[in-house]
This record gives sequence, C-alpha cells and structure tokens, in this order.
Amino acid sequence: MTDEAWWRHAVCYQVYVRSFADSDGDGIGDLPGITSRLPYLAELGVDAVWITPFYTSPQHDHGYDVADYRDVDPLFGKLADLDTLLEQAHAHGIRVIVDLVPNHTSEDHEWFRAALAAGPGSPERGRYLFRDGPDAVPANTVPANAVPPNTVPPNNWESVFGGSAWARVPDGQWYLHLFDATQPDLDWRNPEVPAMFEDVLRFWLDRGVDGFRIDVAHGLFKEPGLPDQRLTDAEREANLAADLLGPQHPEHEPMWDQPEVHDVYRAWRRILDSYPDDRMAVGEAWTRDAASLARYVRPDELHQSFNFHWLSADWSAPQFAAVITETLAAVALVGGSPTWVLSNHDVIRHVTRYGGGTVGLARARAATMTMLALPGSSYIYQGEELGLEEVDVDRAHWQDPQALTTGKPGRDGCRVPLPWSGDAPPFGFGPGSDQPWIPQPAGWSSLTAEAQAEDAESTLAFYRRALSARRTFATTAGDQVELLDLGAKVLTFRRGPVTAVLNCGTTTVAMPDGTVLLASGPLDDGLPPDTAAWLV
Ligand code: NOJ
Repeated sequence: MTDEAWWRHAVCYQVYVRSFADSDGDGIGDLPGITSRLPYLAELGVDAVWITPFYTSPQHDHGYDVADYRDVDPLFGKLADLDTLLEQAHAHGIRVIVDLVPNHTSEDHEWFRAALAAGPGSPERGRYLFRDGPDAVPANTVPANAVPPNTVPPNNWESVFGGSAWARVPDGQWYLHLFDATQPDLDWRNPEVPAMFEDVLRFWLDRGVDGFRIDVAHGLFKEPGLPDQRLTDAEREANLAADLLGPQHPEHEPMWDQPEVHDVYRAWRRILDSYPDDRMAVGEAWTRDAASLARYVRPDELHQSFNFHWLSADWSAPQFAAVITETLAAVALVGGSPTWVLSNHDVIRHVTRYGGGTVGLARARAATMTMLALPGSSYIYQGEELGLEEVDVDRAHWQDPQALTTGKPGRDGCRVPLPWSGDAPPFGFGPGSDQPWIPQPAGWSSLTAEAQAEDAESTLAFYRRALSARRTFATTAGDQVELLDLGAKVLTFRRGPVTAVLNCGTTTVAMPDGTVLLASGPLDDGLPPDTAAWLV
C-alpha cells in the first residue's frame, strides 16, 4: 500500500444494481446494463464504482439477503458478466468495489436451511444465533409432535426494520435477525463463519475486484449472553422519530460496535494486502462518535469507513464546519483517509433533504461541491448527478422490507430506476415500454441523462465539470484544511491552493480573494445564497 493509493482521493459512484440500467427488459437493472453504461461513467469522471449486492438471493432485501456468496443471481446475469464488467471497467480506468454482507445470510442460504433441518443444539444451528425463549420447557416434557410452549423471545432486541429481532421456528426455538426475518444473523464467535468469509473475499479478489464495501460493519459480534437492549422504549421511539437515517442505533447497545469485530478486519486487511494494486475495504459502520468510527480505520484494519455525519447535519455552515473538523480530527488519530457521503440507497436524496425544488437542487449542488473539495474520497449515489429528488412512491408499489414492516414510507423513493433517455417511462432504463420495478414519475423527461448531456447548465454538466476540476487538485492539495471565518452563514476553508466557499445564508456575500475555478450556480456581484465556489 502506498500513500498515493487510489482510494485515498477517489470519487466512487454507487450503483444500486436493480435501478441503474436494465439490459434484458425485465424491468430490473443488471450487470450487462452496468457494463453498457461504463462510457457514461467514464465521461462523468468517476474513479471507481461500488456495486450493491448482485449475488444469488431471494431479493427480500434486494440482494442484502445472500443465498450464495460466490455466484451471480440470474436476475443480474452470470459470473461471466461480472468478469466482462471488471475487464471493461478497468479498461476505462474505473475500479470496481463489490458489496460484502457478512452480518447475516438469506434464509435460503444452505447453512440456514441445514440449521432448520438439523434442530436445536446441532452444529448447524451453531452458525447462527438460535436460542430458546425464557419460558421454554424441556422438549421431553411435551407430547411428541407438539410445539413446545416458548412464546416469549430470548431478549428485548428490536429489528432495524421494526418489531422484535427474533423469529420463531416450528420446533419452538428463536433465531436472531437484526434486519428482516429472512436475514438470520450469523454467529461470528463460531470459527466456521470467519473462515467462510475469508474464502469469499479471496474468491472475488481472485476474479479481480478492487475492493469491498462491508455491510453493517459494526454489527457482526453481539455482546456475550445477549443481554437486553439498554434503551428504554421511549428513548428508542425518540431516536426513531428524530433519526432521518432510520433506526440504526448508534448508541452503545449490545448488538453494535463490539470490540471483537476489529480482529475480523485485521484478518481481512492481511488478505487484502496480500494482493497487488491497493485492494481496499470501506465499512458501513454506524458508530456513536468519531472516535469509535476511527477504530475501524486503524492502519491494520479497514481502509475507510463511510462518514455519515454530513447526512444528519442541517443546512447550516456551523454544522458543516463541525462535521468537517470532527471527521478530520478522528481520522487523523489513526492516519486514516476521510470519506464524505451525501446520499445513498438508504437515505432520502439530498436535493429533497435540503428542501426540494429549485432551492433543494441549488443547495444539493453546492453541498456536493463543498464535499468534493475536501481531502479523502467522496461517495456519490447514482442519480444525484441528474439532480434527482426523492420520489413519493405510491404505497401499492412499496417494495422495501422496512416500509412493509413499519407501514411508513421507506427507502423506495431513492431507489427509483434511472431515467436515461426519451419522453416517457421507462426513459431508456431498459428495452420495452413497461414501467420498471419501481415506477418512474412521468415528469422525468427533462431529467434524463440524454436531455442533460446537451445542456451546459444541467446538473449532469455541472457534475462533469466538478469532477474534472477536482482532478486538477485532488491528489496534490494535501490533507490540511484550514477553516476561515467569513461570517456565521458562510462555510469557507482553504486546502492547499484551493479555497472553497459555501453560502448557507439568505443574502449574497463577498467572495474571498482568488480566481473562480468553478461555481455551483450563477454568480452575481458576490456569492449568492445556496451557492458554492472554488477559487484558486
Ligand atoms: C445496510 C444496507 O445499506 C441496507 O440497504 C440493508 O437493508 C441493510 N444493511 C441490511 O443488510
């Protein structure tokens, strides 16, 4: 690994595989669809793509429920399609990160099927977290063929998707699922589990992937004895109500952020480092604070961890400044490389978070530019380069298990398939004329990639300019960020030769000294509200 490793300053584009591009007309995106759009991604100017899970899966959580970690689901293609994608992406100079889902398998995974068949106390059940409830009675005290009374779950844990985190099987035992009941949690204290995932890592590294995004990286280990969750119902409710990101429970709870998880990442780092060309891993770790996040990116652990703090900040210069300062301080503790994220497939798109419409779009472009000026890597989510807003998906079309469990709008609104071209759905998403798996709004014709490509003022043209301008300083401007004081409503910082300024206020402000390299919107005699600029 070198200090100049590509992932330290990359722009990584997240492809939500179901919703990116459909090659075969079934209304669901696939691997050949991604390959066909690599020229678009190269022209956009991204350094890498992260592809969400495409492995064999019953799709209850759209691929985050893996039945076979070493194969491609027929919905998305074949292993040979992944090989082609890797080869062509690399020919375009684009690295490929794949998603690894180690916290849970699908209920269709051969291990879980074997566990159900083998029964209580078996080694097969020992790969998962099967437990009796507190009111279980010895099996020999109930009549043959009767289900033993075992009506209370083993503890009070709640699923991230709502309801108890325990599901009962016909013989009366319970298994833990921190997400959907179709996603049983593995027992990472069983040595078979780490051994299996080390093989999976090698399988994809041997095929040529450049890295992994680690799903629920903070969740693998649970506190021994599985003690009750410590938050009261009221505290949990308050978190749910306040948390834009969903109930990810960053507080110290017995199912998250256990110390043993770091040994797993040390072992994985050794594997990654044994391959050439700076292979990497980025963790999806929701932690209490910056210091606990930093532990995941110590020099012998994961290379990066998503930094989600910007997602929960308001449209506020002081809040953005605090996020930047805290993030840089946390990674500096361990010599790590910061990451920045404004949108992904689990959160409300940032145009909508910042108010939607013209103002939301102006703010989203300005925030994106600010993020791109910072040291480290930026992760952008498909469709943000088109300025897409969250879609209010009709309840009849909800597919997200979280929405279906809680009865509240979930993550479908940020997962609507991309509009590529034409005047009507499916907007070139795939061949044919049917709506894709989540229907697209009829009014998206002016937002297609085709329509925006020819318009110099479009969000797509802006992203292309921004990524191109970023390349002129991303690797040379250094890691030092100096915050400047231009008033409480203005975020200003200097990084090497570049000064970035973001106006979160309501009046135009004077621009700092320098020549404007790029602005997120029209300038007048100064920097208008909801606008960012880079100066050199
Ligand atoms: C985080 C993923 O980003 C999300 O989409 C998924 O539902 C959960 N992990 C469970 O795998």
